[in-house]
Amino acid sequence: MGITEDLHELRDRGIAAVDATNDLVGLDAVRVEFLGKKGSLTTILRGLGGLSPEERPAVGKVSNEVRQALESAFQERHAELAAAAMAERIGAEAVDVTLPGRARPVGSRHLIEQISAQVVEIFLGLGYRIAEGPEVELDYYNFTALNQPPDHPARSLQDTFYVRDLSGERADIDGESDVLLRTHTSPVQVRVMESQKPPIYVLAPGKVYRRDVADPSHLPQFTQIEGLVVDEGITFGDLKGTLDHVCKAIFGPDRRTRFRPHFFPFTEPSAEVDVSCGICGGEGCRFCKGSGWLEILGCGMVDPNVFGYVGIDPERYSGFAFGMGVERIAALKYNIPDLRMLLEGDMRFLRQF
Ligand code: PHE
Repeated sequence: MGITEDLHELRDRGIAAVDATNDLVGLDAVRVEFLGKKGSLTTILRGLGGLSPEERPAVGKVSNEVRQALESAFQERHAELAAAAMAERIGAEAVDVTLPGRARPVGSRHLIEQISAQVVEIFLGLGYRIAEGPEVELDYYNFTALNQPPDHPARSLQDTFYVRDLSGERADIDGESDVLLRTHTSPVQVRVMESQKPPIYVLAPGKVYRRDVADPSHLPQFTQIEGLVVDEGITFGDLKGTLDHVCKAIFGPDRRTRFRPHFFPFTEPSAEVDVSCGICGGEGCRFCKGSGWLEILGCGMVDPNVFGYVGIDPERYSGFAFGMGVERIAALKYNIPDLRMLLEGDMRFLRQF
């Protein structure tokens, strides 16, 4: 068989091999096999040296044609395979926008925080400022300066957690110490009046502690919001108007309030405030135990004796104070049957708010 036939046979084999490849790596291997420096075509062309000068031009022409035919077959196949590879990649990377998204649960503020923030917002709108005091408090601020000197019978009304310094001199003494967990936010009143001159319009939200066993209506730690106003000419009418406005802002405009006489050592006169029952509208039902009213806060006019402790002239100034329990407001607003649910962290409960 002559060289020309060899070349044609090589061309046909090469084209068949190119057509048979189905990826770029395979195609490159075929190219090296047929057209590379050590490839079949080069090997054949080395044999040209043995040809006579007359034969050479014709064989040279055929070999060029064969090279071109192989090269264009490679180029064509390369374009096809590259396009196919690109199409496959685009397909694999495509985002299916019709797939359902992954839902991420969104957190929220705890109900007690939400209500505190709501009440704070109402009072900021009335021009009050926020005040703070320590949760670990001195007996003086929690009791004495609130007109409950040592041995005052009203002290027994509140069961107190006392804080003892176990390394100190009195480590062996059980019971009362000068340091305690505040039983109400009223000590903040004293701290504010001690450090600021009237006019005073402050709101003090915070945690308080009592030695109660947790049950549906008691928690050993809960949240109060204290309010204090001291200015010239403040009357019980101002107190009533303020608290009526606040109750309507918290519970809704159709709710009514009533003030019942009560006793607190640090206010005189004192009152408890009820809001009309939201379930029966005041008719009387199981929720309000038949009375039509729900108790929500304590309040009164600042006792002149308290002004005495902080050096405010009771002839010139008068004031009112109030304290509300946030857990109780939450329970009344959302019909929560057991205050302990507010502390248990059960997501089925918390997610409702
Ligand atoms: N400190 C009182 C309590 O905890 C509430 C109160 C505050 C009453 C301010 C009158 C004035 O029960």
